[in-house]
Amino acid sequence: MSFKNRSLVTIDDLSNGEIEAVFALADEMAESMDRQIDVCHGKIMASLFFEPSTRTRLSFEAAMHRLGGNVISVSDATSTSQTKGESLADMARIVGAYADIVVIRHPWEGAAQVVANYAGVPVINAGDGGHQHPTQTLCDLYTIKKERQTLEGLKIALWGDLKYGRTIHSLIFALAKFGANILFCPSPGLEVPQHVIKKLITEYGGEVETTSGIEDEERLGPFPVDAMYVTPSSSHQLAMVPDIDLEVELNTGVDALYVTRSQKERFTSDEGQLAKKQLPVVDKKLLERDQFKRTLVMHPLPRVDELAYELDDDPRGMYFKQAARGIPIRMALLSLLLGSREGRVPNDSDSAMPLIAYPEYSRGSALTCPNPSCVSVQASEIKYLEPEFKIVNRDPLTLRCVYCEHGFEPEYVASSERQEGSPGDNRYQSAGSRWARKLSPENLIAFNTEAEARSQGYKPGRYAKAPNNKGL
Ligand code: NCD
Repeated sequence: MSFKNRSLVTIDDLSNGEIEAVFALADEMAESMDRQIDVCHGKIMASLFFEPSTRTRLSFEAAMHRLGGNVISVSDATSTSQTKGESLADMARIVGAYADIVVIRHPWEGAAQVVANYAGVPVINAGDGGHQHPTQTLCDLYTIKKERQTLEGLKIALWGDLKYGRTIHSLIFALAKFGANILFCPSPGLEVPQHVIKKLITEYGGEVETTSGIEDEERLGPFPVDAMYVTPSSSHQLAMVPDIDLEVELNTGVDALYVTRSQKERFTSDEGQLAKKQLPVVDKKLLERDQFKRTLVMHPLPRVDELAYELDDDPRGMYFKQAARGIPIRMALLSLLLGSREGRVPNDSDSAMPLIAYPEYSRGSALTCPNPSCVSVQASEIKYLEPEFKIVNRDPLTLRCVYCEHGFEPEYVASSERQEGSPGDNRYQSAGSRWARKLSPENLIAFNTEAEARSQGYKPGRYAKAPNNKGL
């Protein structure tokens, strides 16, 4: 499929072959940086940054300048009509009329999807809250490929804030797409969200083995792996080796260690104290074991305290290269989405991941996404945005918001068709009851809580007390 006029909101928007095509064009452009000045001549890129940024904004803008295009930008969130309560949809329509392509960073998860729905021009997600940051992932993958030639079968350790790190979430799915194995080393309390793990296993295959049974002191010394994702293409599939030994895995060498800072700006008030329980600083001492001899030390930057400056001159340190490669990568991406260049997608490459076609939850308006950072629950957006969910699992019933992709398990359900008593006598039942599991997706009405069901005129039914997961 041609790249022209497409948006990049999540890393799933590009197939492996398309990612390879971006890399091939980035290689070509990196070789002849000063000969790209006519590629996007006359095109305008709107750069809208509603959160702080150094690398992402400047590299997008520099990339567009190198392509001979023009840039209009917002780099101060308080300078737009958003502060007057303007919706993202209205802003998107206006900016889409002024520019040929839009790059947006925003604190709300799913914001880039909303802008893509309304702008009428390609939109690139430069980070939406704690959700995704697909262009950082392109820089990360490009760097690993340049240094190791392949991603398949590699062992990549993710370190730090795996809960709120948007670069982490995009990278997890990308690594799985390309058949890499992942070691998870979260700061205490900042583990990968369960909805990300569930999507990883159900949509990308492979398995996640956790170390939850292991005492803290016995855990791999200063290298606190709490889980490992084993790709389905791996030679030691978990199906064959049920108890994968993480110590053995570590000893065979780690190809890359991807360090991240704590995303303190996204912590809830209860999470404030988490910042104090940090992982050890990644420094030469931590990496002196044999298995880190050739490890690429990566970081999306900015760093705070988690990565020692002494690694800057170490040949394993990759973070400045990652940032520098943002220019050719973003030049390639902009020129492809604007249709100024054609991508050479390898003929034999597999197409996009076989993402599962989940049934849609068709009664969205009464149910709201429980993620307070989701774009669909913000005051300026609820006036026009219909909440939308996919039914990603029936047992336990799990819905996924189409904007922020958070998965959640509503506790109660009702049917738009089957009623217990007389018509109009609306009853709700436990989502874990067998009654609930028999409902067809078209008739399913879900409630997050009993109070929500009652507030919409429903009364408890015969199976309302059934505990979740236990059939009646
Ligand atoms: C990251 C981001 O904004 O998500 N930075 C970047 O774009 N390179 C990482 C971070 O802020 O920690």
